[in-house]
Parts: sequence; structure tokens; C-alpha cells
Amino acid sequence: MAKGYNVLFVTSEVFPYSKTGGLADVSNSLPQALNSLGNEVRIISPKYGQLDERRLQIHEIKRLKDLSLKMNGIETKFSIKSSFIHGKNTKAQIYLLENLDFFKNKGIYQNIKTKQDFSNNDERYLFFCKAVLEILEILQWKPDVIHCNDWQTGLIPAFIKTIYKDNPYIRDIKTVFTIHNLAYQGIFPKTSFAKTGMPDEVFEAGSHNGKFSYMKTALAYADKITTVSEKYAEEIRTDKEYSEGMEDILDKRKKDLSGILNGIDYSVWNPEVDKLIDYRFTSQEIPLKWENKRELLSHFKIDYNEDTPLIGVISRLVAQKGFDLIEEALPQLMKENVHMIILGQGDEKYQKFLKAIEKKYKDKLAIVIGFDEVLAHKIEASSDMFLMPSKYEPCGLNQMYSLRYGTVPVVRNTGGLADTIIDYKKPNGNGFLFNKYSTKEFLDTIKTALNLYEDKDKWNKILRNGMSLDFSWKVSAKKYTGLYKTLV
Ligand code: ADP
Ligand code: GLC
Repeated sequence: MAKGYNVLFVTSEVFPYSKTGGLADVSNSLPQALNSLGNEVRIISPKYGQLDERRLQIHEIKRLKDLSLKMNGIETKFSIKSSFIHGKNTKAQIYLLENLDFFKNKGIYQNIKTKQDFSNNDERYLFFCKAVLEILEILQWKPDVIHCNDWQTGLIPAFIKTIYKDNPYIRDIKTVFTIHNLAYQGIFPKTSFAKTGMPDEVFEAGSHNGKFSYMKTALAYADKITTVSEKYAEEIRTDKEYSEGMEDILDKRKKDLSGILNGIDYSVWNPEVDKLIDYRFTSQEIPLKWENKRELLSHFKIDYNEDTPLIGVISRLVAQKGFDLIEEALPQLMKENVHMIILGQGDEKYQKFLKAIEKKYKDKLAIVIGFDEVLAHKIEASSDMFLMPSKYEPCGLNQMYSLRYGTVPVVRNTGGLADTIIDYKKPNGNGFLFNKYSTKEFLDTIKTALNLYEDKDKWNKILRNGMSLDFSWKVSAKKYTGLYKTLV
């Protein structure tokens, strides 16, 4: 095996300790995949709220207890605890940063009751970035690369190149910054920048419309930038619809910017081994998939009917995911011969709309507002189709999960959806694509899928084409290792 690299993988969420979306899954599975290639990747993330330390096997590390750092002139205490993430034959160590000033609440980015972003998110993630660098020497483990993810980790590259530039332990560490979602930028007033203690040139590089962007700062200072699909890498660099005002800096960095598609952890998201579903099945046992559907529908008191397709949605309820289209399309869609289950939480306006329309169509539509990992697996296993009409989609994991569960994706042709879904008209087609962000195109495409569903042979071909694909991490983990190699 080739010599591996020491990599510290810095992330604001990791399943099963914290999760709002796909970043948590990626932060769990990519480090393990990298480790099985001979790298030594350790993860570091905040420890939010009151985790069940016994169940999650989180341990104290004596050396990393009662540490402190100074931020904006104020001393803050913290400890680092340790745990391991395990796969079938893989694992990765995770450091969980415990601090009562910033991470005692259960919410990750928002107050779970008011759904407002924490007003001190600037300080919470400034503190996180600083703590990551401050503990390195105490750890006595030196990473070759710090792999940062999204704006919450965005100050690390700039810190290394400014405040820590003469620190012998830190100065030659390289950075990779992965954009999981360019739209969440971590933009704060200039007064937030002052708290970082970094020189003014960093504000100049990272400012956006007069404010300070953690994301842009990372784009300016990271040694390499990646995002989570090739298509999204192109979209954000060349198309104002996707670039969030970052097109200039991304174009400037284009030789350091690449797209590496996310993978899937098939020890977790795989109907053959999934312990969270009622009936496990392979592509040769599709009738068992229908048994899952029967169970799930009966749970929601919807009558099972072999000829009525079940449409699933699992999503953050935000504009990114195309909920304006779903809102407009639902009344029409409810006139068709369909059953539908939507699981999600997010913007109040979508939650209200969904609960209201559910009342009208109780016999065919079930809405679950909340975050429910078990139900997410059951919906993947039971549905015939899965909708992702995203406005933009850096990668998207749910369409890849759907493919493996024989749940045919109906998606907008953008970002990672475009890189993974092949239109049904093609010989190896695995799903349904539409181009324009319009309710009409979306509805027409669903109707095409509903028509095809009636032709069992054709439908099963599309479903099997999807189930046979391999989106495991192998290929992508090799690409990341190759990227580290160019740096070290
Ligand atoms: P994003 O990260 O933009 O939300 P992805 O498709 O990459 O989109 O990943 C979403 C992940 O979050 C999937 O694992 C999905 O199952 C999960 N998820 C989203 N909303 C919920 C929910 N309400 N309950 C359970 N899981 C959810
Ligand atoms: C972001 C994106 C999603 C991607 C996930 C993991 O949340 O919205 O498309 O799959 O990150 O990279």
C-alpha cells in the first residue's frame, strides 16, 4: 500500500454525533474510506448538547482536559474527548470539542425552538477553528493536511498563513477546503472580523459586499479547493445563478478547484444489510421491497395498492431543495393515482403548507415534520420514486441512496444530480431528469414517470439499472488521496 497521509478532517457535523444533512454522512464515511487506503485520518468536530457518552463510547483524554485559549482577549476553557467511528472493516478516530460557552445547546447552527441562527455563530466557529490549531502540539500528532469543510472551518487556512505562519509545528501544514454548499457563507459584520485577530489583508481577501465571509476567506487561503461534484464545480465558477457572488475568486483559483463526487457508505445505506428497514432485499427480491411499502403505508393508515406508486421525499425544507416547486405541484399531483410520504424539517412556511395539504388528502399523503433517521431508511426502502427538484444541488446523497434501494429518482438536471442520474430514455437510464426550474416541467416529468410505472418491464429495467450502480467511496477516496499527494 502506498504511503498514506496524516489528515485532520475538520467538520461541523458528523453522524451519529450530530447531523442536519449530508455533510454529517460524508464526515463519517469519507475519513474511514481514506483510512482504508492507508491514510491516517482523524476527525474533529464540536460536541453539541448533551450526548449520551456511554452509548456513543465517548471518552475523556487526560492530556486534552481543561485546556484554554484566548479569543478576542477573553479566555475560554474547553476539553477534547475521543471516540471511534466504525464501519465493517474500517474506523476513524474522532475528537469532540466540548465547551459550555458555545456548544452546550442541542441545536447545531440554530436555536431548535426559534429556528433562528445562533447570534454568536461567528464566535462559535472562530473558537472552533482556533481550538483545532491550538491542540495540534498537545496532541503530538502532526497532520500533513488539514481538510476543512464548509464555512464553519473556513478561517483555518487563513490562520495558518497569518497568525501561525512562524509556528514551527503548524506553518507547513497544507489545507484542502471542500465546499459542500456555497450558499451558506458564514457572512458577518466587520466587527466579527476584528475578533479573529488576523491582519487587515485577510479582511480584504475575505470581504463580500463590505462584510466578512468565512467561506470567501477559505477560498482565498486554502491550498486546494474541492466541491462535491464535477458539475457543481463548473456551475459555481461559470454561472451566476450558482456562484453566490464568488465567481471572481473561484475563477482566480480555478487551477486549484476541482469536483470530487461524494460516495455512499453501503454498510449503512444498502437494502441488503439495512437493519432499520422491515424487509431486507436484493435486486432479485423486489417483491420484498413492496412488503416494506405495505408496512410503511399501513403505519400511516394509507391503503396499500399494488398499482399505486409511492413517492418519497426526505429533505431539509428549504428553497434549495425545490420546495417552491413541490408546493405548487402538490395539489395537481394529488389528483393522480399516487401515494406520497414527505419527511422533513426546516422553513416554517413549507412546514405549514405541508401540514395543511396533508389534512385534505389524508388517505394518500403523509407528512412528517421532524428529523427521523429510521423513517428516512424506511422511506428509501418503500418508495417507488423519490423527488429532488433542487434549485441547486452540490452533490445530493438521497438520489444515490434511492438508486441502491430501487427507488427511482425524479430530479432536476443540476449539480450532483446531473452527475449521477441518467435519463430513462438512455439504454442504462436510472431516473428522470428535467432541466428548467419550473413547476410545469417538474409535473410533466413526474407524469412521464407515473406512466412508465404502469409498464412493469420497463420500470423494473430502470430500477435495476440504478440498483446495479456502485457509488461507494473507493474512487473518490483515491481522488482525495491524489490531491493530498500534490500538496505534501
Ligand atoms: P443536504 O446535505 O443538502 O441536506 P443530502 O442529500 O446530501 O442533502 O443529504 C441529506 C441527508 O440528510 C440524507 O442522509 C438524508 O436522509 C438526511 N435527512 C434530511 N432531512 C432529514 C430528516 N428530516 N430526517 C432524517 N434524515 C434527513
Ligand atoms: C450539502 C449539499 C448536498 C451535499 C452535502 C454533502 O449539504 O447541499 O448537496 O450532498 O452537502 O456533501
